[in-house]
Amino acid sequence: MEQLARLEDLPVTYVDTLKQNNLVPLWPSLRNVLPPVKPVPLTQAIAWKFQEIKPLLIEAGELTPIEKAERRVLVLANPGHGLDNMRATSVIYLGMQLLLPKEWAPAHRHTPNAVRLIVEGENAYTTVEGQKCPMSHGDLILTPSGLWHEHGHDGDEPVIWLDVLDLPLVYYMEASFVEGGECQPVVSVLDKPRYGAGLVPTKHHIRAETDYPMLRYPWAEAKQLLIDLAKEQTDAPVQVAYVNPETGEDCQKIIGYSALMIRPNETVQLPPRSAAQVFHVIEGQVELKIDAQTFALDKADTACAPCFAAVDLINHSSEACFIFVADEAPIQKKLGLYSVRERR
Ligand SMILES: [Fe+2]
Repeated sequence: MEQLARLEDLPVTYVDTLKQNNLVPLWPSLRNVLPPVKPVPLTQAIAWKFQEIKPLLIEAGELTPIEKAERRVLVLANPGHGLDNMRATSVIYLGMQLLLPKEWAPAHRHTPNAVRLIVEGENAYTTVEGQKCPMSHGDLILTPSGLWHEHGHDGDEPVIWLDVLDLPLVYYMEASFVEGGECQPVVSVLDKPRYGAGLVPTKHHIRAETDYPMLRYPWAEAKQLLIDLAKEQTDAPVQVAYVNPETGEDCQKIIGYSALMIRPNETVQLPPRSAAQVFHVIEGQVELKIDAQTFALDKADTACAPCFAAVDLINHSSEACFIFVADEAPIQKKLGLYSVRERR
């Protein structure tokens, strides 16, 4: 494409007059806002090692009481966006949250959607609109936009989980805010998947009144499904999406969630897609290649890949590897922006 005229090519007096009238010439910036062929993302390929994060998170527990933190979180910030902006990608926020025994992170609700993927520890819980969801390793718990939620911990060891929110997008839209609330009375305990075995509570047998009929996706169920699928399916990837069981659509509206199994000694090649992605290792180890960069990921490590990256996931081990994936596909599909390209 042809090189366009620069701002410096214009007379200074002309540019000053434009500024005084709150006007900007488009052509010097046109290639920046409409780059040829594909976007030029701020999102960098990057990985965060859990063994680096955990001691700093435990130290945060000593430095700041929960009452002074409300949510004790270290944000996994992508330097490409500037650390202070607290973004993993342009849409996705990631945080590692610590809750110590007997602590309570008070009830609130906010416009950004959130999920929690439990990384370590037992006997914590998240109460969402009165439904008490136990938190065990690998479980996915939804706290969608506008739903009251709080976290408590009845166990003896620290609990750590990965928060994934669409905060960067909602904040950019100037739609982000929070309300504080009182401790919620528990109305039911979700110790089993509400939609397990094709059964639903009869009062919801036509259609629940909420967009979020299922709030907790137990890891044991997801893992078993992946293992069964890996035997039945010969190709790759072996991947299952977390969906709304009533509609089959993505479980949340902006970010999509899935779980991926990489068989022993298997390489999974993902095609370049318009949606940036986050990978978090639930079990096992994997070598992650994002374009020309390589990251060795162990259990509980997290990484992100920018849009249109070629991603290889290589399992060198004789044990299967299980990965939690978050991506921007749902919002991109709703906006007509989603595309997949061939590998080169
Ligand atoms: Fe929250």
